[in-house]
Amino acid sequence: GAAELGPYRHYMQKEIFEQPVAIANTLDAVNGISPELFGDGAYRIFKEIDSVLILACGTSYYSGSTAKYWLESIAKIPTSVEIASEYRYRDSVPNPRTLVVTISQSGETADTLAALKHARAQGMTKTLTICNVATSAMVRECELAYITRAGAEIGVASTKAFTTQLVGLFLLTLALAQTRGQLAEADEAEHLKALRHLPVAVQAVLALEPQVIAWSEEFARKENALFLGRGLHYPIALEGALKLKEISYIHAEAYPAGELKHGPLALVTAEMPVVTVAPNDALLEKLKSNMQEVRARGGQLYVFADGDTQIESEPGLHVIRMPEHYGALSPILHVIPLQLLAYHTACARGTDVDKPRNLAKSVTVE
Ligand code: G6P
Repeated sequence: GAAELGPYRHYMQKEIFEQPVAIANTLDAVNGISPELFGDGAYRIFKEIDSVLILACGTSYYSGSTAKYWLESIAKIPTSVEIASEYRYRDSVPNPRTLVVTISQSGETADTLAALKHARAQGMTKTLTICNVATSAMVRECELAYITRAGAEIGVASTKAFTTQLVGLFLLTLALAQTRGQLAEADEAEHLKALRHLPVAVQAVLALEPQVIAWSEEFARKENALFLGRGLHYPIALEGALKLKEISYIHAEAYPAGELKHGPLALVTAEMPVVTVAPNDALLEKLKSNMQEVRARGGQLYVFADGDTQIESEPGLHVIRMPEHYGALSPILHVIPLQLLAYHTACARGTDVDKPRNLAKSVTVE
């Protein structure tokens, strides 16, 4: 009801703004990194595994796709990520030393549960879930679990569940890194400090809302949009495109920016906004040349750039500056303005934001 919504127009907006608290709550019981954060017996299981297989659907699949970059670069563990509805019906090669990780806000998604059972039936019995509902089927079915504390999520388009999943997945990365002798104590302390500072960092990003609203008025008049990202921000571009599709009904696609010339560049015209996630990381120079390719074709770039990137607004190039570069945890900050962009674009188009047509909050039948 209206009382619960407080100053917000929709649950989705409220949930976007609850992210600092949701992240803080998710980190509340964490006093240091250890496998036991994931349950009794986690150390023994983590010691026995040689790879990770992530299974999920929708937005949860994109948090898993982001985590693959962390797991391979920080914990040095080979990781694959599969759409649950594909994995459950595909012939694959089971590896009993793989840790099967399901990710689910609801813990009741039929395809994700079936994918888990499929993995187990093939002898992959080491299972862990990152889930927002402690009493769900998923938590009952898995040996290990990390419960995110996003609180009830009502908007069909997932927001605070996604960022808290990323927090849980980062903790998993650190715990696996530690078990595998890949985490120096100084690094552990640095990572924990960055995690604990996230609520404040997210709050600073939420303050960009007025600038995002100004962009959303232009987006509301478009029928297509392209999202670009590279590295661990490619899944963030995918999530940004998904959000826009789900609630504004604008056709949106995401590409890893290096792939532009292999197809999507043919779509670029002045009518095609190109949203670019531009953190100040090792791929920034490459990304800048991808942006040039778009500009040379008259495309309109909308760039979320970290403070120190030296990307300035000029005709055809619109820039919103992110408060700070956040290293490995940067995806958690960069997804926030994309959530706000989808939200305000949908509002400008007058759609039913919390209950978009044809979609359900939790898909419990196939
Ligand atoms: C539906 C929801 C999405 C969600 C997906 C997976 O499609 O609309 O927001 O990401 O299901 O749900 P889960 O509860 O498994 O994370």
